[in-house]
This record gives sequence, structure tokens and C-alpha cells, in this order.
Amino acid sequence: MTPYRLPVIFCLCGCLVQVHPFDWTDLGPIKHIKSTGWYHKIQNLMSTSSGDKYQIPKGKGSYSVGCTDLMFDFTDKGSLLRLYYPSQDGEYHSTLWIPNKEYFLGLSNFLGLHKFMGKFIAYFFGSVTTPANWNAPLRTGEKYPLIIFSHGLGAFRTIYSAIGIELASHGFIVAAVEHRDESASATFYFKNEFAAERDNKSWIPYKHLQSQNMEYPQRHKQVLQRAEECSKALNLMLDINDGKTVKNVLDSPFDLQQLKDAIDSKKIAVMGHSFGGATVLQSLGEDKRFQCGIALDAWMVPLSDELYNRVPQPLFFINSERFQTPENVMKMRKFYLHDKERKMITIKGSVHQNFPDFTFVTGKVLGCIFSLKGDIDSVVAIDLSNKASLAFLQKHLDLQRNFNQWDHLIEGEDKNLIPDSNADSVTYLSEYPE
Ligand SMILES: *[C@@H]1O[C@H](CO)[C@@H](O)[C@H](O)[C@H]1NC(C)=O
Repeated sequence: MTPYRLPVIFCLCGCLVQVHPFDWTDLGPIKHIKSTGWYHKIQNLMSTSSGDKYQIPKGKGSYSVGCTDLMFDFTDKGSLLRLYYPSQDGEYHSTLWIPNKEYFLGLSNFLGLHKFMGKFIAYFFGSVTTPANWNAPLRTGEKYPLIIFSHGLGAFRTIYSAIGIELASHGFIVAAVEHRDESASATFYFKNEFAAERDNKSWIPYKHLQSQNMEYPQRHKQVLQRAEECSKALNLMLDINDGKTVKNVLDSPFDLQQLKDAIDSKKIAVMGHSFGGATVLQSLGEDKRFQCGIALDAWMVPLSDELYNRVPQPLFFINSERFQTPENVMKMRKFYLHDKERKMITIKGSVHQNFPDFTFVTGKVLGCIFSLKGDIDSVVAIDLSNKASLAFLQKHLDLQRNFNQWDHLIEGEDKNLIPDSNADSVTYLSEYPE
């Protein structure tokens, strides 16, 4: 079972209309396409999905949202994070959604497409922005709870911005990790300080499965590394919070000193999607500083059986309707321990790709055909997921906010929710006795 595949590429094609062509300097072939008029033909073809509608949604909470990238140290053993945080109000640039062309090339590699396709999508999507204030100063006067976020297979740190921005707009600091376990479409580090100073990046490509029967060993090894990277990200954020001097390896005007004493170090959660959902469970097992976890449409294959009774923290599974199999849901149920808080809901009419940002920037027709969008409106789906998450976080991080207005969503009480799961584990049990 591979969570991502073909759909991603078509999502990218689906967005063609609502972006402005971006002039990557080395994309020669694209200029040729444009000059032949193909560009306009493609835009015309996609025109059913044009307009301002297809944008990553803004945060609905009361705080303005800032965004910055943080790398420390420069090696592939350090952390590379995208931070979303409550920011001061003001006029700032919005944030470039996918900041380097290597991520587009990585996506095309992940999807098994020709490199040219990567250049093609980079050209069309390189200018898409997400509604957060790039490098805006942190809003002061409050300590914020912290969420470490883990991405899915073939994803990377920037493409869950609708979730990061929404949580930050409600007063969270969200650190979206970019994993170096070769499960990201692309990621980078620096070979040495000299390279870091010159911004001479070393890119780590996505590593394809060697063979199907290597799936568990490869993915399990990766999930262990991913959990370690979540803990390292937490260490880094807490070091900065404690006032330790951390110099951002990336050239950034955002002063990290602002984050000193800005995190409520007693209120920390871990969240993730798909492979990142598995990472949530592994992280909770390894690191008890994470007080609760939210797994968005978790992909359970990477996890070992010995983890089941090592997760005492409260756990919330938010599933899509289409992705989950009985086998996968049964693995989730193995984490149901006596007396421990476990919740599961399913969003009606949703698909696995309802959680990453692609679902918002895709035209309706292509989005549906290639399952980047479900039957449910993408904004309605992410709102349910985010509100249910906020209610759960308030409960288990002991927050004094009004997120309890959404407590009923944790129970699956909404016309667009199914309590628990739609995947029929009973059938599964009789067919595949363990
Ligand atoms: C960048 O680093 C690579 C080795 O990692 C080296 O071969 C190359 O010369 C460097 N480029 C520049 C411009 O320093």
C-alpha cells in the first residue's frame, strides 16, 4: 500500500490555472513551451477550475500567523523545520509554498515521471503562496503550546500549511519537520560549514522501495529515524525556548531569540499524516514529553507489534473514508489499551489527499478524477479535522481556551463525520484470522 502515487501529479496539473508562471532561471525547455502557445492551451483546458477559489485557506483563529524556516545544525543529523507561529499584525509577504525547484523534481522522481515533468510543474507551481506572514515577528506576551508535525511519504515540510496555519492562528507554535530518512520527495543539508555559508545544498532524494518484500524492513527503519527526528526537533525548540544560542544555518532575518520563553514546555503534542501518522505513534512510544498525539489517516505498515502497549498517552485517529483498510484500522485498534484515552473518527466523503495542501490548489474536476479531492468540500473536511484536533488538544494539553465548543466532533457527532471507522474489521477478522 503506497499512500501517494499518481494522484499527486494530477493534482499539480489541476492547479495550472490558478498560478502565475514562475521564471526559474534554468528552465529553458519551458520557455519553449510557452512560446509555442501550449501554455495558453493548457490554461484554457483547465479553465473550469480557475479563479481565486483554489487557494490554501487562511487561519480562522484570532492570531495572525507567521512562518519561517529553521535549520540546525547544518548536517543531515540536525533538524530542518518550517515553523508556523502567532505573529504580530502588519504587512508582510506571504510565504512561498514550495520554496525550491528540487522539491518539484523530487515529486516527479517519487511519482516515477521524467525529470522534465518536474521542471514543468515547478514552472507552474513555483509561485504558489500560502497565507502566512513570512518571517513576521512573533506575537509576544503569551506562552504557546507546541506541536511537532510529521509529513507523509513523498511529502516534505511545507505542504501541510493549511493545518499548520490554522493551529498557529489559534495560538500554537507548529514545527513541521522535514525528514531525512529518504521518505521525503527531496530534502537537503550541508556537507560542511563552508557549504552552509555559501548555501551550497546537498540534496537527499526519495528512495524507492527495492522490492515489495522489503516494504516492512525499509519503512520500519525509516519510522524509527522519523521518531528520532521528531524528538530532535523538540530538543531544538526547547533549547531555543531555554535561551540557548542557536544560529539558524539558513540565512534568515527571523530572530530566534524571540522564541525564548515563548513555548509552554508542559504542553507538547505530536501530529502527522499517513507515514507521519505512524511517526506520531512511534514518537509517543519513544518520547514521553509528547503528551498526546493526533494521527491523520495513519498508514500503519511501518510499525512493529511491540509498540502497541508502549503508548500510554491520549491518541486521536482522524481518518479519511477512502484510504483505510480493515487491516490498517485493526492495527490502530491494537493501541486501544484499557483505561487509556483513544478516539477515532472518519470524515465522510474524504480521501487520503484531503490532508495535504494539494487538495486546495486543485481544480474540482481533476481533483475528483485523481482523488486529490473527495466528495466532501476540501475546506469543510480540513475544518472538521482541525476543529476536532483543537478540541482534543485542549482536553489533553489542559488548555484554557474555547476549543471545547468542538468536543462533539471528537465523538464523531456531525453530519459529515462517522464515529469510529467505516472500515469493516469484522469481515477482515473472519477472512484473515491471526
Ligand atoms: C558545492 O559542493 C560540492 C561538494 O559537495 C562541490 O563539489 C562544489 O564545488 C561546491 N560548489 C560551490 C559553488 O562551492
